[in-house]
Amino acid sequence: MKVGFIGFGEVASILSQKLMENGADVLTCVEGRSPRSKDMAQKSGVRLCLRNIDVAEESDILISSVVPSMAVNVARELGKHSKGIYVDINNISPQTVKEALAQVENQQTVDASIMGSVARKGSQVQIIASGKYGADFAHLNEFGLNIRVIGPEIGQASGIKMLRSSYTKGVSAILWETIHAAYELGVDEEVMDIIAQTEGDNFKESANSRLLSSAFHSKRRFEEMKEVRDFLAGIDDPIMARCTERAFQLIYEQIGKLDKRPENYRDVFKTFKK
Ligand SMILES: NC(=O)c1ccc[n+]([C@@H]2O[C@H](COP(=O)([O-])OP(=O)(O)OC[C@H]3O[C@@H](n4cnc5c(N)ncnc54)[C@H](OP(=O)(O)O)[C@@H]3O)[C@@H](O)[C@H]2O)c1
Repeated sequence: MKVGFIGFGEVASILSQKLMENGADVLTCVEGRSPRSKDMAQKSGVRLCLRNIDVAEESDILISSVVPSMAVNVARELGKHSKGIYVDINNISPQTVKEALAQVENQQTVDASIMGSVARKGSQVQIIASGKYGADFAHLNEFGLNIRVIGPEIGQASGIKMLRSSYTKGVSAILWETIHAAYELGVDEEVMDIIAQTEGDNFKESANSRLLSSAFHSKRRFEEMKEVRDFLAGIDDPIMARCTERAFQLIYEQIGKLDKRPENYRDVFKTFKK
């Protein structure tokens, strides 16, 4: 089984280790890429090609793992050269994934979404997939990945990812507003205890973690919420998504880009004022 990656960052380096351990032939091209990508590819021991086109032509399964803003361009560049299954695993909306995959001439395409962080969950992170060729992509489970096919249509997997985002980021935004107000009143511990009575024992721990990652990833979340809002706007009036987007915009404007993840939400609230 030959698996090609276009874009060799965190996702490609972690998934390719597992694939190679289980006997897959993994290839990529890092010509013209940043020192970070070149270094990751060289250390991983994957086969290095001189051109992206070579990767596309040789791969049984070609995975686009670039950055969301490049997904369509890469599909445009390589769609006519892909001989096997073309998988888009980028964090993009159903509309964008459809636009990207429409560029693939043989139409053997898969919409795939990673549920969670590859850095945290490693190669066992759940990947959901949709499209007629989902089952072909899921053959990579025999090489150690954790892929679940959820439907036959392009747009379903990325749609689920958008809805998951809408829910988790919405909860984080309401949590931020509630606990920040409680902190300003000097009753945050008490409010946490009261909510834990309905939300369960690990609420305080998970709330702290959500608040810290909301501060640390505020810019990325603000940008992701724009995609979520656009997606939902095609279905219904996205009132909550608009508010969540605004909440993360405010957090980013107030706190800016943090160099490292803070340890306590109170340290973050000291510098936050709406
Ligand atoms: N990491 C996660 O846990 C996670 C979770 C869910 C979804 N995703 C999605 O998976 C994709 C990859 O994520 P990642 O974390 O691996 O990103 P990453 O570490 O930033 O790596 C992106 C890679 O794509 C390369 N690249 C950018 N533009 C390219 C182009 N036009 N042609 C070829 N290569 C290009 C980059 O090269 P340079 O270094 O030269 O820029 C880099 O090698 C993203 O779309 C992300 O949204 C990631």
